[in-house]
Order: sequence, then C-alpha cells, then structure tokens
Amino acid sequence: MDLGLTPEQEAVRSDIREFADEVIAPQAAHNERNEIFPREILNELGRRGYMGITIPQEYGGMGMDTISYAIVSEEVSRACGSTGITVAAHNALGTQQIWIMGTEEQKEKYIPQLASGRKLGSWGLTEPQAGSDASGVQTTAVEEGDEWVLNGTKVFITSGHEAGIFTIMARTDKGRGAHGISAFIVEKGTPGFRLGTKENKMGLRASVTSELVFEDCRIPKENLLGERGMGFIGAMKILDSGRIGIGAMALGIAQAAFDSALEYAKTRQQFGKPIGKFQAIGFMLANMAMEIDAARLLVMRAAWLKDHGRKYTKEAAMAKLYASEIGTKTASLAIQIHGGHGYTTRHPVERFYRDIKLCEIGEGTSEVQRIVISRQLGL
Ligand code: CAA
Repeated sequence: MDLGLTPEQEAVRSDIREFADEVIAPQAAHNERNEIFPREILNELGRRGYMGITIPQEYGGMGMDTISYAIVSEEVSRACGSTGITVAAHNALGTQQIWIMGTEEQKEKYIPQLASGRKLGSWGLTEPQAGSDASGVQTTAVEEGDEWVLNGTKVFITSGHEAGIFTIMARTDKGRGAHGISAFIVEKGTPGFRLGTKENKMGLRASVTSELVFEDCRIPKENLLGERGMGFIGAMKILDSGRIGIGAMALGIAQAAFDSALEYAKTRQQFGKPIGKFQAIGFMLANMAMEIDAARLLVMRAAWLKDHGRKYTKEAAMAKLYASEIGTKTASLAIQIHGGHGYTTRHPVERFYRDIKLCEIGEGTSEVQRIVISRQLGL
C-alpha cells in the first residue's frame, strides 16, 4: 500500500501551493469582504491548466487524475474558499457533464473553451422546489421542431452570473420521475435565458451564487446532452465525483484554520506561557490534527478509487461528509483558540468559519450524504 504522491502529483501540489500562497491568499480577505469575483486569478489558473485539470491535453486540459484535482481543490481553498468553490464547480460540474456525456461535436465545441478557462462552466440542477429532492425538477424542456424550449427557474447555481456555458437539467417526460429528466447545454446570451437574483451569502462572498430563469428559451436540438431521460442519472454521477472536490475544499479551509490556530497557540502568552502549553488547548489541536489527517485519507481514497475505475459513490459521500463536518468543527475551535481576536475580522479564522459551512450544504447536505451512504449499505 503506497500512500505517497507520484512525482507528477507532487509537482502539481508544489506549483498550485506556491501560486495560492503568493497570489490567491493575499487577496482573499479583501475580495471576500467586498464581494469581488477573482476573475484575474481564474484567468491565470486557466493559463496554468487548472481550469481543466482532468481534461486531456488534446482538448486543452492538463490531463491529470482525480487525486491531482483534489490536491488543487484543497490548496486553492486553503488560500481562498471563494476561489476554491469556483474552481471546483467549474471543473467537476460545469465541464464534467459535457465531457462525460457529450458527443464528439459537443466536446470539440465546448471543452477547449472551458478547459482553458476562457469561459466558465456552470451547472444547474437545484430549483426552488427541488433541493435535496433533486428528482423533483420542474423546469421543462419541450421538443418543438428543431428546437427545445426551456421554461423554469434554477437556484443556488455557482458562478451563474459569470459563466458562459451552462449544463441544465430539465424535465422532458412527465410521469417518469428521475427517468424523465434530461441534460442540456445552454449558452449565455440565448434569448429567453436571463440571470435572476445574485445571493447575498454568509460566506464565500467572492464567489457568485445565482438564480437562472428560462422563459421560452429556445436552444437547438443538438444541445441535448446525452440520451433523453438520462440527465438525472448523469447528474448523480457528476455529484459523486463533485463531492470529492467539496471534501477537498473543506480539507483546505480546515487546514488553513488549523495552521492559524497552531501558530496562535505557540505565540500567544497567557499566565506566563504560550497557551498551547495548556492541555485544554494542546488537546484541542491534537484532535484537530488527527481529524484533518483522517479527512485527507478519506478524500484521497475516494479520488484513488475513481482513478482506478472502482466504485466510489459511498466513499465520496463519506469523504465529503466527514471533511465538511470536522472542517466546520475545526474552524469553530480555531476561533475559540484565538479568543476575542478570532471573533474579529483582523484574523482570517472568522472567514474560514463562514466559508466552510457551505461544505456541509453544497453538492448535497450532510443528511443527503447519509442517505447515499445508508443506501449503499443496502438499507
Ligand atoms: N450513480 C448512478 N446512478 C444513480 C446514482 C449514482 N450515484 N444515484 C442514483 N442513481 C440512479 C438510481 O439507480 C435510480 O435509477 P433506477 O431507477 O434505474 O434504479 C435513479 O438514479 C433515481 O435514484 P434514487 O431513486 O436513489 O433517487 P432519489 O429521488 O431517491 O434521490 C438522492 C436520491 C441521493 C437524495 C438525490 O436526489 C440527491 O443526491 N439529492 C441531493 C442533490 C444535490 O446534491 N444537490 C446539490 C446540487 S449542487 C448545486 O446545484 C449548486 C451548484 O452550484 C452546482
């Protein structure tokens, strides 16, 4: 059993970490506080290949594996959760469904633009009445001549206002439940498609979370993605791998919170010694270190299983669930260790706490992960 990274994976880790430390982290607090979308950073990440990490080089990507993808998600999120979720949603959701389900023509048309970061990808499943109950999609797509006509509303869609290419799940066949949902590619600027509300969020405020509105939006017939009726199944597969990225994102933010708390515990003096020398604080940090390690092993195992063509639905749900729950706990304890200072905006730990909470909700709540795991256990 080899738990080490390959030289290629190590090279990815060291390159993205350097970029994250030198370029992303210094801007993170300012961008988050002022809701500044990190467009320039994303452009540079695109130039370096990180907007198409697992896409083969002939389509403009980096051609790396899922472990590398998890490493990038972790390292970018360690510096800035908002950039982390934007990169994760673009790579794992917005680009992946086209890559996995697209025809050769669709791949040639859309993937190079996405993998290079020239256009951002966005992915629309959730609706006001179809959150955790995702097969309750009510947006409709009706076939009319050479076109599909879309009507409905999507909510909580990462990068909606900034994206150029959208994958949208819509109902094509009433009465067929999950099997009546199909996937479509919709381009920004298509008549009948408009951007609605931009959410005002608790955290991740430099990322954009959007409402998408379709009112008699006509798209060409060839924009059906995959087989009719296979949109929901495709979305479930996409979420399986997306959850590895959200687990890694939680890991990155948790690591940042831990690093900050450890440094503070070593330097902050009370009662004549560093507070880390008190067992109450030392044990807190020991538990945090252990849980982060366990979360990293779960995330990497899920990524490894995917890379080796094994089943990973349960393991990805476990990784995302565990990393996000221990991550929120870690960020909360990091504030506790910083005391009053941690509750102010002078220290980044309050941002980590606000940012990481999303990891327990996005791409399936913790409760949905438990549904997925328990069903995989045959319950
Ligand atoms: N892989 C392949 N197929 C799968 C699958 C998977 N992981 N999970 C389910 N399916 C298949 C099932 O086998 C079933 O097919 P059959 O009928 O042929 O057997 C079909 O899909 C329906 O499955 P279920 O009966 O299990 O479906 P359900 O309605 O009970 O829902 C659920 C299950 C796990 C709760 C699912 O609805 C779910 O994951 N909900 C959460 C959705 C979610 O994570 N939303 C967040 C989206 S992120 C977002 O929108 C924001 C953004 O910016 C991107």
